[in-house]
Amino acid sequence: MSEYMEKNVHVNLDSSVEIIENTYDFMLIPPNKKIGVMIVGLGGNNGVTFTISVLANQLNKQWKNKNGIHTPSFFGSLSQYGSVHIGYDENKKSHSKLYKEMLQMCDINDIIISGWDIVKDDLHTASERQKVVDSDLRDQLKSKLEKIVPLPSIYYPNFIAKNQENRVNNILTFKHKKDDLMYIIKQIEDFKFTNRLEQVIVLWSGSTERFNTGNWKNWSELMRSIENDDPEVSPSIIFAMAAISCNCIFLNGSPQNTLIPAVIEYAEMKGSFVGGEDLKTGQTKLKSVIADFLVSSGIKPLSITSYNHLGNNDGKNLDEYPQFRSKEITKKSVIDDLVESNPILFKDGPPDHCVVIKYVPSVGDSKRAIDEYYSEICLDGRHTLSIINTCEDSLLASALILDIILFSDLLSRIKVSKNGDTFKSLSHVLSFLSFFFKSPVVNNTEPIINCFFNQKYGLENLFRVLNDLPPIDFINLSKKI
Ligand SMILES: NC(=O)c1ccc[n+]([C@@H]2O[C@H](COP(=O)([O-])OP(=O)(O)OC[C@H]3O[C@@H](n4cnc5c(N)ncnc54)[C@H](O)[C@@H]3O)[C@@H](O)[C@H]2O)c1
Repeated sequence: MSEYMEKNVHVNLDSSVEIIENTYDFMLIPPNKKIGVMIVGLGGNNGVTFTISVLANQLNKQWKNKNGIHTPSFFGSLSQYGSVHIGYDENKKSHSKLYKEMLQMCDINDIIISGWDIVKDDLHTASERQKVVDSDLRDQLKSKLEKIVPLPSIYYPNFIAKNQENRVNNILTFKHKKDDLMYIIKQIEDFKFTNRLEQVIVLWSGSTERFNTGNWKNWSELMRSIENDDPEVSPSIIFAMAAISCNCIFLNGSPQNTLIPAVIEYAEMKGSFVGGEDLKTGQTKLKSVIADFLVSSGIKPLSITSYNHLGNNDGKNLDEYPQFRSKEITKKSVIDDLVESNPILFKDGPPDHCVVIKYVPSVGDSKRAIDEYYSEICLDGRHTLSIINTCEDSLLASALILDIILFSDLLSRIKVSKNGDTFKSLSHVLSFLSFFFKSPVVNNTEPIINCFFNQKYGLENLFRVLNDLPPIDFINLSKKI
């Protein structure tokens, strides 16, 4: 149990400000013994790499490659290695604690994985094809991985690229979307029952879909559209509705607009949680730092130009325009709040922002991201910052997938009482997860925060207040007077 006295600013429409004060009491429900994770796109690069990372940890594997002998790690994961600043001692030494030391989070060993894919390959076969994980580790896990065969899934061909068509061999053959929904619900319930799970998280890590153009006013209209086989109901919407129906947390790791208002309203109605959208792993994560650095320094970005090339199946799917367009939208949105925050720098409008993605099979999972930040400085001077970022896409994503699972589970266990009211869960949109997503979904009453450090301190301060510590204060006034 912890208490937090909030003192914050509310700006009225006439720009006058009011100080608001609230008192919050928090409780954290202990985690379940096991946590189920069902991945849509289990046989994809992210699904397979994440599963191997978890199994390698659980089985304490060691493996060899040309650099030597290795043990499993999740470097790149906030939940495993991130720390929260606590304060300074009299020797000016900073003290911090790992996130996982501050609040009780599930352990990697408590995760049980299952999921769906429209391709039937077992996870060892898929991993051989993907060439992400060292062959020694993959082969040590062969007997386990061969037993993991994705469940058959929903395939509505016009949502993902046409170039995926000839891979598809593991699909449900119902004639109606309602039947697809009911079957996915049954698969989730079976997984829960067989493994005796209370908490299951369904993650969409399937191929990027095109945007749906459905304009459903509310969840019941959306349900009617599912019953009427509306062509705009995408597979990811069916999975979201199924997960919510089963009271699971639904997370969208891809860019398409799955978490539309009707889906969010359904989550609210059912008391389930959702989070998304599009994992923020490499280029966009860095952009949310660099753009903030430029604008915070008073430098005026004129253009931000981002090229990517990658050679994995995600890159192939993004090679067609409707799927690329979904990615372009989330990648571009990452500077929105920054532009809005500075009416002087951007009085003539936002900077040019261009995103290009090309499929180059030979680089495989090793994505190249090349960014140019071209800015105006003093006396019409120009400042150009060019960044080349090369990374194994799915290895970055695996650490992030672990984080969204552990943090969303934790957030779903928080109960809060405002000004002495009854204890309630956090709102159904888990916007504290914004740090992990390119295009964060937030509650109706909330602004969207894209900047890396604002998102980080949001999460860090939550951990502090749940430990009866005040939010972080950089004034350090007592040491300056
Ligand atoms: N790897 C990263 O760093 C990263 C970062 C941000 C977002 N993403 C997004 O995550 C998603 C997955 O990425 P990936 O690299 O694993 O791609 P991938 O192509 O390797 O895997 C996607 C898998 O989804 C399967 N699939 C497609 N439609 C499906 C459906 N209806 N039901 C079940 N399975 C389906 C495909 O067969 C494929 O195996 C993509 O949308 C990608 O844009 C990835």
